[in-house]
Amino acid sequence: MKRIYYDINLAERNSFGVEQLANTLVEFDNVADLREFFEEQRPEEWYVLGAGNNTLFTRDYKGVILTPVADGMTILSEDEESVELRVEAAHEWDALVEWSVERGLWGMENLSAIPSSVGAAPVQNIGAYGAEAKDVITVVEYFDTETLELCRLCNAECGFAYRESIFKHELRGRAIILAVEFKLHKMPRPNLGYGDVVGEVEKRGGATLRNIRDAICAIRQSKLPDPKVLGNAGSFFKNPVVERDVAERLLKLYPDMPHYAVPGDDSVVKLAAGWLIDRAGMKGRRSGAVGVHERQALVLVNHGGATGADVIAFAGEVCRAVADKFGVEIVPEVNIL
Ligand code: EPU
Repeated sequence: MKRIYYDINLAERNSFGVEQLANTLVEFDNVADLREFFEEQRPEEWYVLGAGNNTLFTRDYKGVILTPVADGMTILSEDEESVELRVEAAHEWDALVEWSVERGLWGMENLSAIPSSVGAAPVQNIGAYGAEAKDVITVVEYFDTETLELCRLCNAECGFAYRESIFKHELRGRAIILAVEFKLHKMPRPNLGYGDVVGEVEKRGGATLRNIRDAICAIRQSKLPDPKVLGNAGSFFKNPVVERDVAERLLKLYPDMPHYAVPGDDSVVKLAAGWLIDRAGMKGRRSGAVGVHERQALVLVNHGGATGADVIAFAGEVCRAVADKFGVEIVPEVNIL
């Protein structure tokens, strides 16, 4: 069953908390709702808004916002080693992680406390602490708005990469994700290689699923602002990937600059946008209602009353400061509408 709202304020539906209106917002349950809607309305402009954690509205939206509401979960198969499950798009990501930890299933624990819906997770291949959604996704099921068919892509067909997938490229403006299938493991496979994770896990008594989840939640809580308290969309910028000679030139000037190998491509190096912004002197900087978060320079925050346009203008200042100091371009990770 679908529900349709007109001239709806989106403030409660985006984690930045910016006030913009949408002409039409459709909440849908299933493929039949979508098929009926696209057959009858043939909307020219539409956008899928899940929990709204990675979208910045800079204007009133003239098209149709589509929001999934089905959040069921089904176990598809189980053997001695693993469990496969299908989860509908509106299911809260962290509720799923908690479910997996509670049942002793490995694979999602490093992705604890990421604000997201399950349906949004594959789009930007959410990731944190050395893990990415692609490590546990087996299939993505979506409605194709051109053929009006239900389609399935296996993991290898999804074009997953760092904060990337086919849903941001070839299938952008065409696919509406309805459900995601995952494979989780019963044998322990702790992944503690990233930053301060191992120390935080040891402090809690070792690498159990629960300790890893608690450690990750604590690290995130100490660095990242809670969107319910301070509007934000997590990392506003992507970590930039630069040519190796650019990284080497910068490392001569800044030997402590964090840098990471890019698997499968030796010619480029990934830098830490948070460090670049911090060292460009922008951490904690504020312009009106928008600012760089005090504890994590990657995050832009709405101190209250910022418009999307204010955020974009300030993001431009941050990019310019980084470009002026380091000659490196950083780009938003957030979807800007
Ligand atoms: N750094 C600073 N100052 C800062 C922030 C970071 O010097 O203000 C330095 C850190 O000390 C570290 C490096 O920059 O050496 C990287 O920082 P951090 O480990 O905090 O992680 P990140 O690379 O900045 C990424 C993801 C986060 C994810 C963390 C943990 C991106 C764009 N962001 O941040 O994802 O939680 O790793 O794995 O890849 C998100 O996508 O919304 C998000 C929060």
